[in-house]
Amino acid sequence: RMQITLAILKPDVAVNPHIVYAIDKSILRNKFLIIKRKRLRWPKARAEQFYFQHAQRFFYRRLVEFMSSGPIEALILAKRNAIQDWRLLIGPTKVYKTQHTNPNTIRGQFGLTDTRNAVHGADSEESVHEEVAFFFPEFDVGKWNTKG
Ligand code: CMP
Repeated sequence: RMQITLAILKPDVAVNPHIVYAIDKSILRNKFLIIKRKRLRWPKARAEQFYFQHAQRFFYRRLVEFMSSGPIEALILAKRNAIQDWRLLIGPTKVYKTQHTNPNTIRGQFGLTDTRNAVHGADSEESVHEEVAFFFPEFDVGKWNTKG
């Protein structure tokens, strides 16, 4: 069954049209449909709100600074098992490791550091609902079957 997920292209890649193009190709080659996309910039307060569950982590300030430092793109992607498949395609969070263990993933290819790791992927159905509402309040998630 069709499922949707929420992806973010982070400022390290969103500033570079060549990398955005390469990531788009990878998305489509892997049979995701791009349902919605929005290019925007986050005020610091928006980044703080999105990542509030990391507020106590050592990397929170640098994450908020980074995510509000330039343009980002939010995408709603659809596919069977979209949540899991997108996370497989982007690779693990920690880029220094991922460059060696999963070099063909999006983070393995385009991530710069553990913070500047190119892309984000929602990690659960609940996160998809929250994150889609965060970027696309007009989008009716309920009309989509979000089960894998
Ligand atoms: P993301 O999938 O957007 O979710 C939380 C983000 O915090 C993560 O990607 C990274 O950008 C950042 N992050 C997670 N762990 C670390 C870490 N150990 N060091 C620095 N940044 C991190």
